[in-house]
Amino acid sequence: MDKILVLDFGGQYDMLIARRVRERGVYAEVVPFHKITAEEIASRGYTGIIFTGGPNSVYEDGAPTFSPRVLALGVPVLGICYGMQLTAHLAGGKIASAEESGEYGKVELTVEDSPLFKGVPKESVAWMSHRDYVQALPAGFKVVARTEKCPSAAMACEEKKLYGVQFHPEVTHTAFGGKMLENFLFEICGCKKDWNMESFIESAVEKYRAKCAGRKVLLALSGGVDSSVAAALMHEAVGNDLVCVFVDHGLLRKGEGDLVERTFKDKFGMNLIRVDAEDRFLAALDGVTDPESKRKIIGEEFIRVFEEQGRALGKVDFLCQGTIYPDVIESGKGDASTIKSHHNVGGLPSVIEFKEIVEPLRDLFKDEVREVGIKLGLPRELVWRQPFPGPGLAVRIIGAITKEKADLLREADAIFREEIAAAMKENAPNQFFAVLTDTRSVGVMGDARSYGHVLALRAVTTDDFMTADWTRIPFDVIEKASCRITSEVRGINRVVYDVTSKPPATVEWE
Ligand code: XMP
Repeated sequence: MDKILVLDFGGQYDMLIARRVRERGVYAEVVPFHKITAEEIASRGYTGIIFTGGPNSVYEDGAPTFSPRVLALGVPVLGICYGMQLTAHLAGGKIASAEESGEYGKVELTVEDSPLFKGVPKESVAWMSHRDYVQALPAGFKVVARTEKCPSAAMACEEKKLYGVQFHPEVTHTAFGGKMLENFLFEICGCKKDWNMESFIESAVEKYRAKCAGRKVLLALSGGVDSSVAAALMHEAVGNDLVCVFVDHGLLRKGEGDLVERTFKDKFGMNLIRVDAEDRFLAALDGVTDPESKRKIIGEEFIRVFEEQGRALGKVDFLCQGTIYPDVIESGKGDASTIKSHHNVGGLPSVIEFKEIVEPLRDLFKDEVREVGIKLGLPRELVWRQPFPGPGLAVRIIGAITKEKADLLREADAIFREEIAAAMKENAPNQFFAVLTDTRSVGVMGDARSYGHVLALRAVTTDDFMTADWTRIPFDVIEKASCRITSEVRGINRVVYDVTSKPPATVEWE
């Protein structure tokens, strides 16, 4: 299989570049520049290399750099932004800092004839974000694109297949960025389009069947996208050698536990153990109001439930986890001391003895995981599920948790989600849910005074959940949800809509 190395120099778009390449049917992997040598690049047989951007200046002390030998391997290189400046620097060119200001945002780009720009109009829009630029080209290179302020917006040494672009072809604001990446992959590197989810499934099934079949594989199923797809894939590979444990803590959304059971046990015929642990979770949470304590109690209780299951299961050979590629990249970036543990269920307890962890999705981006899930026959509502926190409704019931409150919230939340799904379809916000506040307010019902709960509705639009904007959902959707909730859910007599972005608020209320 052809593969592209995305050599990461600290840019913010490293994962996006890899995704853009994979979307075009070519496998790409991200490796931080200090985790690989030129010799390893040669021996791993990459078909092409993309140097990412980065926040530094090439002459700065400690700026990320690489051995110039990488340019002599005969493997095509495309340097993007800092990656272009570094390519020029390594090849003997000169970098300068733009005197007044750099270029930020959309600019008019003029390109020359070059394999990189085949099918790209002479003038188009590109997206820039730089102060430094290549002032003197290395020997053997020529300028192949310009902007008003940047005399070397792209450079090429066609003979050695070395290219650099000062702008960002990976972002959608660069009108023909996708075409340029395709030219690099297919015209310059000569890649074949051989990365697709059918062949991924086929080879993963073969690999894990050879490795794990006939032995016991344990997977902690949360009902989230990643663990669900990992379960479906592993089941395809080893059938009933896979045991899935699904802990229902009683704080799931309406119908969620049953959907998981129906899908995995009834439809797939999986070896699924559903542990109904509502009573013990509610007992452990009784009277607890502090958000962090709630999370801690739920985490600990999970471990206890698993310990009991572990004792019953005895020794397992493999622990299967739904780790995905962004988790792997993030872990690989940090120093060993700061690496996060990405154990999906908060780390399975030590009482479960196992020989090895297997992570069948560790090479896939989220959109690829979803595609695999659909191809394996998982229902859309599971595969396109919005994020849902591990502690579940516990962090959406403000104050002390009771079964009565959890039931009220479940009903109200289901109505809100139904109305959004019906009215907004593909344009639905990235996450939307209801929160049961611990405030009560006065209302009128018929001729009587009521004193009921205040429910908050929350919907956010976001790419990464690190920042988020509150979604301007249509007023009539809010109105319909509010009317239905106050008439169908006894005990809630007032509905408010959360109009705060993150920051300063967080997505969840607790
Ligand atoms: P916040 O509230 O921090 O949420 O802005 C960002 C995203 O993370 C989810 N979230 C959690 N997920 N365990 C989880 O597995 C948690 O304790 C947790 N808290 C928040 C939240 O739903 C949002 O998608």
